[in-house]
Amino acid sequence: MTPDPTPLTVTDEPHTEPVVSPSLASAATHTATTEPVQREARTITLEKLNAWYGDQHSIKDLSLTFAPNQATALIGPSGSGKSTVVRCINRMHEEIPGARASGAVKLDDFDVYDPKVDVVAVRRAIGMVFQKPNPFPTMSIFDNVASGLRLTARKVDPGHVESALRDAGLWEEVKDRLRKPGIGLSGGQQQRLCIARALAVEPDVLLMDEPASALDPISTLKIEELVQELKSRVTIVIVTHNMQQAARVADQTAFMLDGQLVEIGPTSRIFTNPTDSRTEEYVTGKFG
Ligand SMILES: Nc1ncnc2c1ncn2[C@@H]1O[C@H](COP(=O)(O)OP(=O)(O)O)[C@@H](O)[C@H]1O
Ligand SMILES: [Mg+2]
Repeated sequence: MTPDPTPLTVTDEPHTEPVVSPSLASAATHTATTEPVQREARTITLEKLNAWYGDQHSIKDLSLTFAPNQATALIGPSGSGKSTVVRCINRMHEEIPGARASGAVKLDDFDVYDPKVDVVAVRRAIGMVFQKPNPFPTMSIFDNVASGLRLTARKVDPGHVESALRDAGLWEEVKDRLRKPGIGLSGGQQQRLCIARALAVEPDVLLMDEPASALDPISTLKIEELVQELKSRVTIVIVTHNMQQAARVADQTAFMLDGQLVEIGPTSRIFTNPTDSRTEEYVTGKFG
């Protein structure tokens, strides 16, 4: 397949009035408050998403919907394109040299790839957590959580930091050591710190790329419990290699193979009665 002639990359044209959706606008202009902000989660829709690394066509015509207030698991063998898909959703993909994408990613009706969009606002509305916890190494626990807020608010409300840490299930463990380095925490705590950092800017969507695969079983369970709690506020996309994890946390599950969507459906159906024989082979452990 030849690359799409109209790749969705940011134009170099200067744009004085960035276009942002209501949610993106609120993400960009939010000022700190101690009140937890209840927000309706949003739908992410992928329409004929294609992605390339140079000449390598890694995602092929992927169309699917991540429903609001649900956790959707992305499963599939290594190299099937799961990480690429999540990076396309918040436009991290375009940061990789030689990488590009085409098609549409929508946050409700808003086109994430609109050339006039403020890409920083996109990444605040669509937060991301990676496999390996990546707290800012020189920053304290407090400053890690406050880092996103500092982009918009000169003075960070400690109450806001506290509520993000509470939402990430970490507050009780760190409240007496907020000024200590984030990298002094255990792996599982660091991952919850990264979740707190993502939550502090009140995203609409949380992308989690194998968030527990580097963690011990107890830390993994804590992350899974968090997913269950957080989906009342944010739409969650969770990449996982672990079938049991998908079965435990995901409302719907999408199975990918070779950069294509094989099928998506309610998790229980995908695991017990898939329509495609390749899904059945994968979920029963015949390959992958
Ligand atoms: N940074 C990159 N540069 C070049 N190719 C990449 C890069 N990241 C991923 N790929 C390629 O894209 C395909 C999909 O990879 P990836 O999205 O990482 O899959 P998964 O997360 O399912 O393991 C693979 O063939 C992989 O080699
Ligand atoms: Mg991956």
